[in-house]
Amino acid sequence: MADAPARAARVLLGISGGIAAYKGAYLVRRLRERGIAVRCAPTRAAESFVSPLTLEVLSGERVYGRSYLSRDGGAGGAELHVEAAQWADLLCVAPATANTLARLSLGLADDFLSTAALMFEGPVVVAPAMHDAMWRKPQVEARVDALSALGVEIVGPVEGALASGERGWGRMAEPEAILEVVCRKLGVPETGVAPPAGPLAGWRVVVTAGPTHEAIDPVRFLGNRSSGRMGFALARQAALRGAQVTLVAGPVGRETPAGVRRIDVVSALEMRAALEEASSSADLIVMAAAVADYRPRKRADRKLKKSGADGLTLELEQNPDLLAGLASLAPQAMRVGFAAETERLEESARSKLEAKKARWIVANDVSRSDIGFDATDNEVVAFGRDGSRVRFPKQSKDELAGRLLELFAGRRAASG
Ligand code: PMT
Repeated sequence: MADAPARAARVLLGISGGIAAYKGAYLVRRLRERGIAVRCAPTRAAESFVSPLTLEVLSGERVYGRSYLSRDGGAGGAELHVEAAQWADLLCVAPATANTLARLSLGLADDFLSTAALMFEGPVVVAPAMHDAMWRKPQVEARVDALSALGVEIVGPVEGALASGERGWGRMAEPEAILEVVCRKLGVPETGVAPPAGPLAGWRVVVTAGPTHEAIDPVRFLGNRSSGRMGFALARQAALRGAQVTLVAGPVGRETPAGVRRIDVVSALEMRAALEEASSSADLIVMAAAVADYRPRKRADRKLKKSGADGLTLELEQNPDLLAGLASLAPQAMRVGFAAETERLEESARSKLEAKKARWIVANDVSRSDIGFDATDNEVVAFGRDGSRVRFPKQSKDELAGRLLELFAGRRAASG
């Protein structure tokens, strides 16, 4: 088990090709003054307005650009757009030209910025900048509406002098205004430290994420397809809402969300030990991890060898039910489980509410490939101990995490 400290928030800043690109460079500086790490991704056209070297010096970080889809220098050999999307807590595009807006909203992926944007799963802030006549065009309006519907926050544009010398709407919002939105979404105040504000301020939240691996021998294990996305999204969204968050993570290679304390574990028994340490003073515990129900009764000290033509029989023993155990470990906490179901969703989820003494069970249909295990989206029904039933349509796991936390926080506030 390893306990990692909280780290600075990280912004991937896309800069597209317009005269306002110089303000993008200034924004880098303002973000850094707030203690936020910034990596820039200028489009090819933006490089005519602001040089990658300027951005590199201002950010003190690598600049992404032409090396679209390249693997050079990527962490652990990862493709760069994947590395960038996993590194960042927030994607900001400032300025966003009409072309970039359209490409983001359509999901085109043919340069570094658009590809990283399509990969990215966290909050997105976009600051459009273009001539007033372009901004008023219905096709631009339609793209902006589509981005808003996807949860992208649009900042500006504002009225003022345009590059053409005319006045009108289309001028990029000032970097300070964009900075405020970015900081609000990341939960970073002037001091650059996690804020005591937000609907979950004062809450201690524990989230579990990912699979557990149950060792068979030194190289083999029993596991499952959980990617950790759902749990990491819950941890990130709880931190953004002001909570003090501990994330107990099974073996997944995901970046720790900003401001979150992480405890890495491998097996169900290690997860239980981490929960014993983390949950005694928790207000809310969300078990999004796919904990193995069984483990091999014996872990071989040496790699098992193939012997003869016979099969191999593994004897399994049951793991403890961690969620059920929390009832005595953290009786004060609101305890939430997820239920991975393939049939009779409601009946199974309701019986888990009882068996695991949870306040909520959030059920997802894991027989579908577009939601549940290892998918970017999820669709769930939350069943409450008070008989309530709240349906959440298919949406990104990040968005869903925010909606679920609002449900839990609202019900706790309502019940006092
Ligand atoms: O990680 P992703 O790829 O994003 O996928 C998300 C997910 C599908 C893993 C997630 O949404 C989910 O459904 N998580 C719970 C999976 C699971 O273990 O379901 P279950 O029905 O077997 O267990 C019900 C609850 O009991 C869960 O909260 C689980 O954490 C908990 N449990 C299970 C077994 C055990 N021994 N101890 C437990 O505490």
